Amino acid sequence: MLSSEARFETEIRQSLPGMRVMVNGEHLRGKLKRLAMEPPIRLLSRLILKRMPIPASTRALWDLSERPAYLLGLNFAARQAIREGVRAFSAVEFGVAGGNGLIVLEKEAAAISRDHDLAISVVGFDRGSGGLPDFIGDHRDHPDIWKPGDFPMDEAALRARLSPTTQLFLGDVAASLPKFLGDQTQPPLGFISFDLDLYSSTSSALMVLSSPAARMLEHVALAFDDVDHARSHRFAGELLAIDEFNERSQRVKIDRWRGLAQNRPFPEAGYLQKMYIAHDLPAIGRSGLARNTLRRDLNQG
Ligand SMILES: C[S@@+](CC[C@H](N)C(=O)[O-])C[C@H]1O[C@@H](n2cnc3c(N)ncnc32)[C@H](O)[C@@H]1O
Repeated sequence: MLSSEARFETEIRQSLPGMRVMVNGEHLRGKLKRLAMEPPIRLLSRLILKRMPIPASTRALWDLSERPAYLLGLNFAARQAIREGVRAFSAVEFGVAGGNGLIVLEKEAAAISRDHDLAISVVGFDRGSGGLPDFIGDHRDHPDIWKPGDFPMDEAALRARLSPTTQLFLGDVAASLPKFLGDQTQPPLGFISFDLDLYSSTSSALMVLSSPAARMLEHVALAFDDVDHARSHRFAGELLAIDEFNERSQRVKIDRWRGLAQNRPFPEAGYLQKMYIAHDLPAIGRSGLARNTLRRDLNQG
């Protein structure tokens, strides 16, 4: 029985008759992968992959998810957990509303968890039926985009759709977050989605990374939903909350997820611009790699 990757290679080869390929195993695979990502072949490749039972990490590369940002963040967190020898992490969504995002987070966490034999704890934070809270009264909460009361949750309908293992923290995030942080049984943070819309709410939620009680992997994948509207700017909303977080927090710093668009079949995908990483600087400073010394020969490129 062929592995799904081998089947993919076969299908690609069959779909490209006359293509000259090297027969050396490793070389062929790398060449095929690169070729499969070339426009316009990439569209055909994605169509084929969509029909195949491929690992979640391959889906993450090809943006094959209802929420590619969630799958990408979870996949990164799984790899980071494995690097650190950790068998469990938390995946958090700030701002749940009707729950469409949280349901996908559950589904993709289950897929990643199966592929890597990791435990992923899925957690959602929301005010509940009240929707967006009152604003702080100036431009920073973007009253040009949002209104208090937007996105009310139907809690009963949501709970009926959620897995019993998913945790919902209801109430203003400033009040509910300390309960989460105080619970020592929660595994370290691996992936967080911020979708609270407001500067004020996002500033409160970012305490999840700067609180002395925060437990996190060395690098935590983050997705911010509202950083790329035409009316987004660094002086309001999530972008301002990130800048202020970095000024305030000495231990953890948030930066763009660098190099993310490289070696991807769809580097232009808009959501890639919304991905960030939180870096725990002292933890990184304490880390050491258990691997052989890297060597580079003089005649290597
Ligand atoms: C845009 S909706 C979230 C949509 C959801 N992520 C999805 O993908 O369907 C924003 C949510 O953030 C919640 N929210 C905003 N400020 C909050 C706060 N201070 N505390 C808790 N929830 C808040 C609102 O209740 C609202 O449901």
